[in-house]
Amino acid sequence: MIIRLTVNGRQHEVEISAATRLIDVLRDQLGLTGTKQGCRAGECGACTILVGGQPIQACITLASRVRDEVRTVEGLDDRFIPLRQAFADHGGFQCGFCTPGQLMRAAALLAETPLERLSDEAWLREQMNGNVCRCTGYCGIIRALMSEDVRALARDNAPE
Ligand code: FES
Ligand code: FES
Repeated sequence: MIIRLTVNGRQHEVEISAATRLIDVLRDQLGLTGTKQGCRAGECGACTILVGGQPIQACITLASRVRDEVRTVEGLDDRFIPLRQAFADHGGFQCGFCTPGQLMRAAALLAETPLERLSDEAWLREQMNGNVCRCTGYCGIIRALMSEDVRALARDNAPE
C-alpha cells in the first residue's frame, strides 16, 4: 500500500506493507537515521519521536496507523538549540546513542510542563524514565533539564 506521511513539515508518499514499522520508514525509506533503534520492543526509548506532538516509540508503531505529523530529531528547530546545548554543557550524553530519544522526550515535556515542575528533580526523573541511558547515570540529563537555559526555553514557549 502507499501512504502519505508528513515528517518534519514535509509530505512524503511511501510504499509499505501492513506490518511496516514507522522506524523503518523513517530510517530506511526517508534516510532520517537520527532516530535510533535499540530494543525494538518499546522498552528503551531510543526510538522516541513525536506524532501529533506526543512522544511515541517508533519501533512499535505501524506506519499505516500514523495520521498526525511526525517530528524526528532532525526536525527539532532552532528554538531547541538551548536544549541540545544544555545536554552538551551538563554531561547529558556520552556515546550519544540514546540522545535523540532523550531530546524528543524532553522537547515534548517542555511543551506542556509548568515552569515550577522543572525544579522538581524527582518528577523529572519519573517523566524521563522511559528513556534508558547506559552511560550517564542520568545525572547529566537531569542537570541539563534543570538548567537555567532550558528553564528559559520553557518560559519562552509556554502556552499562552
Ligand atoms: S528501540 Fe524502540 S523502545 Fe527501544
Ligand atoms: S549516552 Fe550512551 S546510552 Fe545514553
